[in-house]
Amino acid sequence: MAKIRNELHFILNGEDVALTDVAPDETLLDFLRLRRSLRGSKEGCAEGDCGACTVLVGKLVGGKLVYEGVNSCIRFLGSLDRTHVVTIEHLKGADGKLHPVQQAMVDFHGSQCGFCTPGIVMSLYALWMENPRPSDQAIEKALQGNLCRCTGYEAIIRAARAVSSYGDTEKDPLAAERQAVGSRLAALADGARVEIGTGERRLVVPADVDDFATVLEAEPKATVVAGSTDVGLWVTKFMRSISPAVFIGGLDELRTISEENGVVTIGAGVTYTEAFAALSGRIPALGALIDRIGGDQVRNMGTIGGNIANGSPIGDTPPPLIALGAMLTLRRGKTRRTIPLEDFFIAYGKQDRQPGEFVEAVRVPLPNKSSYFAIYKVSKRRDEDITSALGAFHLMLAGDGTVAAVRIAYGGMAATPKRAAAVEAALIGRPWNEATVEAALPRYEEDFTPLTDMRATAAYRALAAKNLLRRFLAETSGTSEPIQVSRYEPA
Ligand code: FES
Ligand code: FES
Repeated sequence: MAKIRNELHFILNGEDVALTDVAPDETLLDFLRLRRSLRGSKEGCAEGDCGACTVLVGKLVGGKLVYEGVNSCIRFLGSLDRTHVVTIEHLKGADGKLHPVQQAMVDFHGSQCGFCTPGIVMSLYALWMENPRPSDQAIEKALQGNLCRCTGYEAIIRAARAVSSYGDTEKDPLAAERQAVGSRLAALADGARVEIGTGERRLVVPADVDDFATVLEAEPKATVVAGSTDVGLWVTKFMRSISPAVFIGGLDELRTISEENGVVTIGAGVTYTEAFAALSGRIPALGALIDRIGGDQVRNMGTIGGNIANGSPIGDTPPPLIALGAMLTLRRGKTRRTIPLEDFFIAYGKQDRQPGEFVEAVRVPLPNKSSYFAIYKVSKRRDEDITSALGAFHLMLAGDGTVAAVRIAYGGMAATPKRAAAVEAALIGRPWNEATVEAALPRYEEDFTPLTDMRATAAYRALAAKNLLRRFLAETSGTSEPIQVSRYEPA
């Protein structure tokens, strides 16, 4: 059994922190503002949308210190063992001089009321470290997760463009501390399991994935917390208890991506950011979709395994993974089983997960070069919005232009992510053309009975689902004829 430590260890700006009194649902933002009086990080939404609470979290990845912007409002303290937390207060130099990113924001009038400004500065600082001379596209992506209600983005973007003329990343005032911070973090790696508190205030940080399996077998009702982009809201919006909470975001064994014989195995703890880096070149449609999940802060925290395990009918990654024919590996103790991903989703809020079992990895066959694969996400806003309906299409044609194989899966159309089995059956063996698609469209009523909610009406969803298939046909059939797409007329 792993050795046990009853203290959480991390570095906050320059200070070593050791905490014995931590509730499983204590957020980093509350800790900063209430316990440490570091009030530069703001609470705007408390749900990972606005970015006012953005801080950087640094961790050792393969011996290298890597910093990522995260939403401290939904990040729990329990997830911070052996990390370096950098807040806006740390950016100002000892001599009182503003950091180059801050000075550029001042000079280009990037702030009015200032509420969003610390978060925007932290996002731009994260960008600057990674990409000192960013394109406008990179700047816009870096700011996807930061909302400003008063300045307008033009001034902020001008400041972001100008940062490189304010200083050199090599001479970043914080660069000098990096080596020492890396050594301090390495010294914190004692291979111990962290256990703090009892009853309603209990949290566990397993030592490694085998230890996690042991912990979950012993406490099958524990709340498993990976990126906390969903569980964070259970606390901040629904005041739910998550004790005992098991924090697995730091388990390196769950964060691997490997490829063998055309199948990519993605560990459950791989974040969206990591998945994008590894897969966007291999499956471009998946990369484009990941770019539309939250902002960088959410993508740096949220995990592929979490998006599957929570069973949400509007999770963005299950439909495309189902369309690709992904298989899910579940583990309980030392026992593993592998099932088709679509079989994992049984009903709303009910997944095929036994007590003590957890999602370990998903195996994704890469699409064949001669196949067509597309994902279409429909949401009210392009960026940082939750899906109304999402369709994923994977098609293989025979030499004579007929449909040899097709897998179609949707999110937002049923109580779970689900295949359009009746529509698929109506397409197989037929010529891939408008007549076949139009003849298959009525079969959607057999596959789905969508709901009306705040994101879309049932009628809108039903029509959008059909139109996405028409769009897929238009993009893959090579026809120069316009494809008729039905208009949605609200009642
Ligand atoms: Fe809005 Fe954290 S307060 S993202
Ligand atoms: Fe006021 Fe951005 S400056 S919200």
